[in-house]
Amino acid sequence: MTNNNEDLILSVRGLSKYYAKVRALSDITLDIRRGEVLALCGENGAGKSTFIKMLTGAETPSSGQIIFDGKTYDTLDPVLSMELGIAAVYQEFSLIPYLSIAENIFYGREILKGKGLLDLKEMYRRAQALFDEMGMDIDVRKRVCDIGVAYQQIVEILKAVSRDPRFIILDEPTAPLTLKETAIFFNIVKKLREKNTTIIFISHRLEEIFQMCDRAAIFMDGRFVTTEDVKDLTMRRLISLMVGREISGEFPEPTKTSDEVVLECKNLCNSHINDVSFKLHKGEIIGFGGLVGAGRTEVARALFGADPLESGQITYKGKNYTPKSPRHALKVGIGLIPEDRKGQGVLLGLVVRENTVFSSLPKYLQYGFVIDGKKERDATLGYIKDLNIKTPHMNQLVKNLSGGNQQKVVLSRILSTECDVLIFDEPTRGIDVGAKQEIYNLMCKLADAGKSIIMISSEMPELIGMSQRIYVMSEGSITAEFKKGEFDQTNILEKASLGRKNRQLHLKFMEQ
Ligand SMILES: Nc1ncnc2c1ncn2[C@@H]1O[C@H](COP(=O)(O)OP(=O)(O)OP(=O)(O)O)[C@@H](O)[C@H]1O
Ligand SMILES: [Mg+2]
Repeated sequence: MTNNNEDLILSVRGLSKYYAKVRALSDITLDIRRGEVLALCGENGAGKSTFIKMLTGAETPSSGQIIFDGKTYDTLDPVLSMELGIAAVYQEFSLIPYLSIAENIFYGREILKGKGLLDLKEMYRRAQALFDEMGMDIDVRKRVCDIGVAYQQIVEILKAVSRDPRFIILDEPTAPLTLKETAIFFNIVKKLREKNTTIIFISHRLEEIFQMCDRAAIFMDGRFVTTEDVKDLTMRRLISLMVGREISGEFPEPTKTSDEVVLECKNLCNSHINDVSFKLHKGEIIGFGGLVGAGRTEVARALFGADPLESGQITYKGKNYTPKSPRHALKVGIGLIPEDRKGQGVLLGLVVRENTVFSSLPKYLQYGFVIDGKKERDATLGYIKDLNIKTPHMNQLVKNLSGGNQQKVVLSRILSTECDVLIFDEPTRGIDVGAKQEIYNLMCKLADAGKSIIMISSEMPELIGMSQRIYVMSEGSITAEFKKGEFDQTNILEKASLGRKNRQLHLKFMEQ
């Protein structure tokens, strides 16, 4: 193949990246066609993010070449990459929370009027026009910290789109999105396609690859495996190429649910939730469904003592429970894995071992004050094995792990607390298909060991497959309770769309 082939926008030849002794990427050779949507697939830690960081100049290759538009480079730096028209949405958030949406969109290339003053009015106008065009109904003067993770993600994407790139890389852009914003995202991709923008798309929601990509490139353990046209690919084959083994794809079921009520909430209210009542039994997995902003995370936070409750009553193991703080909740036995793991979950500056035991230190103390090193090591190694965490050793800094593996570390931290009620807020976000199955199995094992689980999930198959009962929320209230056998995608969505605001969104979504 020639380098200046008209149909190719970007090629890499023998690209490798080492971090000390860790081989993140090994001898990748790959051609990307002008105007295509290419999926980059592989398990957590396969090297996908490392690959794109070399295209954006965020990292320097250890060896190999990048050929962009017929020109060969040994390395790209961020400025050059931007000049070439390459834009990226990274797995990590890059927005500035206390600035408005519009200021974030134009960050680093602000519009000025006269003597170097910011032309905020013009920035608002242009940003608003962009959001309106993409079907996203939001006031761009709002601060980013006030809009929730799903909307923040759309802002990240539109920030990249607003640069009018020729080549855009989207590293798990849909992970925090629920159905509604995913529809907005598909619309954005459609518009980019119309402009013949080349797109690299990374997602662990494999069905999205079939919905929007032309080809899939598969990486495994830092190596290139193959590329395939998506039209010739089946889900089964894609998974076996990525994982190298068959995955059953079936949801395990807890077997020991009892009638004993572990947790009962009555009429919980605060500024985000309204009159929320529900029950959780011993050994049960219940699901909370709903659209973004429905109040599910807020219920979890209130139970965990992270947000105050204004009224209502909670009975936990037969006694009154008034959540005071997350620490108090953990102490009584209620644990939460937060949705916004980057903000609240993982301690990036600590190593895997420290993250694992962080929330349950007393358990690892001997004589009441020194850490029992062996106990700590054994527990950490156990979780690394059970959750298949890809790390060179347990003393690796968590910030050096891949996105999905960081999330597994957060999971192990909450599991190590041995709480009796575990709240999982979007537990498999960003987690690869094989590890998802491991997490489902683990949840069942926990339930069978007498733990009770509340799972908040925006992934319909997971919500339907894993829950024994489902509560649906809309606009801060519970709108339905379904038992197994009663729920399906249609009735969950219908109840999730109750209420004035959501009704309109639902109709809009169904039209698409
Ligand atoms: N700064 C770093 N120092 C050491 N190792 C690193 C560093 N960055 C990445 N790695 C390692 O490189 C490998 C590839 O990581 P990468 O983030 O590219 O995976 P990924 O395919 O994007 O995974 P995910 O689906 O979980 O996001 C991982 O094993 C990771 O631990
Ligand atoms: Mg990644």
